Amino acid sequence: MSQTKLGEKTDRVIAHELAKKQREVSVAEFFERNRHLLGFDNKRKALLTVVKEAVDNSLDACEEARIMPEIQVEIVDMGNDRFRVIVEDNGPGIVKEQVPKIFAKLLYGSKFHSMKQARGQQGIGISAAVLYAQLTTGRPARIRTRISPRHDPHMMEVRIDTTKNEPEIVKDEKIDWKKEHGVRIELDIEASFQKGDQGVDAYMKQTAIVNPHATFIYTNPKAEQSVYPRAAEHLPKEATAIKPHPYGVELGILLKMVKQTEKRTLQAFLTEEFSRVGSGTAKEICDNAGLATNTKPVDMEHAHVEKLMEGIKKTKIMSPPTDCIVPIGEELLEKGLRKEVPAEFYASITRKPDVYRGIPFVIEAAIAYGGNQPADQSVRLLRFANRVPLLYQLSACAATKAVIQTDWRRYGLSQPSGALPVGPLTIAIHLASVWPPFTSEAKEAIASYPEIMKEMKLALQEVGRVLGAYVNKKKRVANQQERINIFENYIPEVAGALSEITHDKKELIVASMRKMLEKNKEFILRNKATVQEVDAEGPALGKSYDDVDDEPKEEDDGK
Ligand SMILES: Nc1ncnc2c1ncn2[C@@H]1O[C@H](COP(=O)(O)OP(=O)(O)O)[C@@H](O)[C@H]1O
Ligand SMILES: [Mg+2]
Repeated sequence: MSQTKLGEKTDRVIAHELAKKQREVSVAEFFERNRHLLGFDNKRKALLTVVKEAVDNSLDACEEARIMPEIQVEIVDMGNDRFRVIVEDNGPGIVKEQVPKIFAKLLYGSKFHSMKQARGQQGIGISAAVLYAQLTTGRPARIRTRISPRHDPHMMEVRIDTTKNEPEIVKDEKIDWKKEHGVRIELDIEASFQKGDQGVDAYMKQTAIVNPHATFIYTNPKAEQSVYPRAAEHLPKEATAIKPHPYGVELGILLKMVKQTEKRTLQAFLTEEFSRVGSGTAKEICDNAGLATNTKPVDMEHAHVEKLMEGIKKTKIMSPPTDCIVPIGEELLEKGLRKEVPAEFYASITRKPDVYRGIPFVIEAAIAYGGNQPADQSVRLLRFANRVPLLYQLSACAATKAVIQTDWRRYGLSQPSGALPVGPLTIAIHLASVWPPFTSEAKEAIASYPEIMKEMKLALQEVGRVLGAYVNKKKRVANQQERINIFENYIPEVAGALSEITHDKKELIVASMRKMLEKNKEFILRNKATVQEVDAEGPALGKSYDDVDDEPKEEDDGK
């Protein structure tokens, strides 16, 4: 064909030309161009992302060091769309030598290689914020750190050399700092500040809801200060790391693990680098894969690893341990919600752990109903993953889908088809996991794994049922009250008419009708009391309000 003929001569020349242009791309350069992947697609979101990355790290560090977090966030408007973001924590601090890499090298962190519940994952959060600052204002990141009262505090200014993805130290000096330990970060960025559901104000409030053990002092660019004092006296239980579960590894990861392992035999590799693989299970996997248990991992080739993968699939392996997950807990989640969302009725549930792709997770849900929340608008949905509020990508999130797919009409709300329900309600959904599956690196929406969707729906149904019982009871009491009011007004007239027909004395008829009414009033009072009791105490899940009291049976009164 003419194309091949033509190609023969020119191909090599073009390939040579092309070769001159081909070179490695550093991750920093990649994200310089693709900042939207990390949540810096517009100025408003950029402000949120910078605050979020710093606060995530502060909370993670405090919890890891078992310190009750006290975090100060300040955003200063410097004019011309420039803002200074300052985040200061009382955490363990960072040793001076690590500061440049942590803040000025992408994909450097302590969490990527461990399967442990934390807010951070990829080791890209704070360095991406530093990169963004550098790109938009040209200013380096300024970091203060102190690791103990016995050590001097340090201040460093760092920037990223994006072609190499390596840190550059601009300044490094000893300073005076009263803080005994902790980190303070200052970043100058181009951004815009807006209030509303996707702004930093909303983020801070929601962060306080799901982190009741932390105190936050937040000053926004309008110089408005909000203090969120802690509502819990203890840190959450410490999260523990687990090894990967065989069902959760993909071929690429398995290949890498086989290459990197120091174990001498396949048997040892399987039992020591995976969770839930004892010697019996390891042998079974090897049998099912057609590989000898004493195969040397270093000798394994691609085809062998594929066989191993098959062997894993064929073997029944116990689910991973779930005690590594630290949920917020029903009580604290509800407490957090009460603190920040005024309403008349609350309920919450923490489900039992479940597993997706070999990775354990727990779903929690809570609701706040009534109060001043608008009755004619979609409910407010608060989504959280490992105690971090998710403010973007609402419709792409498993939590949103789960709410939409739940039939809220059964629980006394109206719901247009394929949409969020309408009513004076706030719904909070929390996913806790050693590896929450996000739909992108910006960690904005939870991926819709069937197991996760199922657990979310079950959690929503549980709180929904309690809500339904409350809403219906409230409606019944209101209806009954209305009926009584109408009836009471008509008693004299009805009694008059009856007395003409039956020739009984009108006063007697009035008296017996009033007696009947009293019974109904008693019912109303009793049930009003239950509704109010629920208001004050909060409902107990699993307890149905239907069995509290029912409408009085019709009785032949005075006949
Ligand atoms: N405020 C802080 N206090 C102590 N350590 C921190 C702090 N901020 C960041 N670090 C350390 O720096 C690492 C990198 O942070 P980051 O780039 O946000 O990635 P990730 O949080 O995903 O690990 C963290 O894993 C943590 O070890
Ligand atoms: Mg982080």
